[in-house]
Amino acid sequence: MTNLDLRADAAPAPAFVSAAARFGVIEKPDLAYTPAIARETAHLYEKVKDFIPAIEWPAYAPYVHAINRLKKERNAVILAHNYQTPDIFHCVADIVGDSLQLARDATKVDAEIIVQCGVHFMAETSKLLNPEKTVLIPDAKAGCSLSESITGADVRLLKERYPGVPVVTYVNTSAEVKAETDICCTSSNVLAVVESLESDTVLCIPDEYLAMNVARQTNKKILTWKGHCEVHERFTAAELLAYKEANPGIEIIGHPECHPDVIAVCDFSGSTSGMINYVKDKQPQRVLLVTECSMASNIQAEVEGVNFVKPCNLCPHMKRITLPKILDSLLTMTEEVLVDPAIAGRARLAVERMVNLKQ
Ligand code: 13P
Ligand code: SF4
Repeated sequence: MTNLDLRADAAPAPAFVSAAARFGVIEKPDLAYTPAIARETAHLYEKVKDFIPAIEWPAYAPYVHAINRLKKERNAVILAHNYQTPDIFHCVADIVGDSLQLARDATKVDAEIIVQCGVHFMAETSKLLNPEKTVLIPDAKAGCSLSESITGADVRLLKERYPGVPVVTYVNTSAEVKAETDICCTSSNVLAVVESLESDTVLCIPDEYLAMNVARQTNKKILTWKGHCEVHERFTAAELLAYKEANPGIEIIGHPECHPDVIAVCDFSGSTSGMINYVKDKQPQRVLLVTECSMASNIQAEVEGVNFVKPCNLCPHMKRITLPKILDSLLTMTEEVLVDPAIAGRARLAVERMVNLKQ
């Protein structure tokens, strides 16, 4: 009898070995607030004392202490987005930044393990750029309304409808979507990415408002998708004008995921790090950041003279990441972020084209 199943001759796929099995699981340490822990974390409390009352610090400090110790033991590094809460941002993160900075810095990390404190697409991006490293996310359910607004199949349909039109994908998308596209962008380089393409028409997906905002700055025809950020779409121009009236002289700076009518009443628009740098450079007396509200808390200590007016819109996905979950992640080596090898190569190319773009 002849065996016609050629797969029978193929080399068997290597068995999957989980990060927990590769690195081992460590038992949960005692999380008591001892005088030694109080002493060793005192310098970190200084950075967050305006947001965490002294009476609550004993609940945070043992986690901060255990995470920082475990990072060394595991040879791990923590990358945290600008929207993480001040305890994470100031007390346990090694690298902080906007999406582009985190993607760039992920390529320079020496550690064997990356713990991504942010949302799932950010962890996937780190894995794409560091296929040989172990990437963990403390809560795999930390999603993003933009990322969930579009699938790889949707992009294939768009390409069928607009043959030959290059596709720029916002980094806030799954690896499956990135794999279908030509180049990624973030809010800080979207204009440069669009301008780098030869075509007069560009598909810029999935954030409709980011695309509308960039369309105002380029002569290219921009086609887009109806995805929105559930945090930024809540801001309205009328609300911002009311803040202006109530606070004469206030500077309003907005994230380009907001509707163009909102951006039109802003004094400046930029990525999360662009907004932070603007506040640090200009030190306005009073400012409103039209974005997720942890950002103002994270930079308050560095710009003491600046008074932040805070309409507090929180990203529920970013807020899934907490100190207890980060500790668990390092102890149990979960949730490990993996990218299907069938799409990883093409998705990586789209991210690398963006990271390598000269600006
Ligand atoms: P940045 O790239 O500006 O950090 O934005 C990421 C994000 O998710 C904003 O909502
Ligand atoms: Fe996504 Fe908006 Fe949250 Fe950013 S703020 S992660 S775009 S839902």
